[in-house]
Amino acid sequence: MILNRLRLETHAQHEALDHHPLMVQLMSPTLSRTLYQHILGKFLGFYQPLEPLLARYTLWPSLGIDLTERRKTPWLLADLSHLQVPLAARPCAPQPDWIHDDAAALGTFYVMEGSTLGGQVIARHVARCLGLSRDQGLAFFSSYGEAVGTRWKETRAALVQFAEQTGEEDAMIEAARRTFEALSTWLDTEDTGLCNHALQGG
Ligand code: HEM
Repeated sequence: MILNRLRLETHAQHEALDHHPLMVQLMSPTLSRTLYQHILGKFLGFYQPLEPLLARYTLWPSLGIDLTERRKTPWLLADLSHLQVPLAARPCAPQPDWIHDDAAALGTFYVMEGSTLGGQVIARHVARCLGLSRDQGLAFFSSYGEAVGTRWKETRAALVQFAEQTGEEDAMIEAARRTFEALSTWLDTEDTGLCNHALQGG
């Protein structure tokens, strides 16, 4: 079934991301505030082109998903603003080129939402290392707080419903893989191009 397939067939990509030098440094006991800020900036650059692209698809309400409440960029902007990181010149990942239909949008959504699970582990670690809290620079990794489990259950139900209705499991999995790989590549990329997406806090 789709949930097992997504987990198993993107396992190698998740592992590669966990072992990425930036993620390893993020989880190191010697994490610095500078590195934390750099990582938040990288995630902002990754999510900024992605979120408006996913919002162009109209399938979400039929799957019980409110995409607005799932947005990660407002949390990232709040964190960076709290940490007094200037946002005027910020790097931006390339426009995602793997999302052309509902199945790919949903496969991408799986990765973005799954990151809130690992985020809980990361949030505890960052809180310990840097003494931050949710309202003080730790909103992105804290994500939905106590509602992480509920949101993930809703995500899983949406994935199952879509897969049963369309049979497009392979396309969902391929998009999920591409999302993981694009994030790894983006973490490797020097910060050159600047983002022209409007900043939308909230
Ligand atoms: C150091 C970084 C990370 C760590 C330590 C980590 C850790 C974890 C853990 C512990 C889980 C399982 C949680 C559970 O089953 O309750 C998980 C699930 C997941 N994580 Fe990560 N994660 C990291 C980064 C990321 C990132 C950056 C993404 C994507 C942007 C991501 C995507 C996912 C997905 C999609 C799942 C769900 C797997 C499933 O289908 O059950 N993770 N992660």
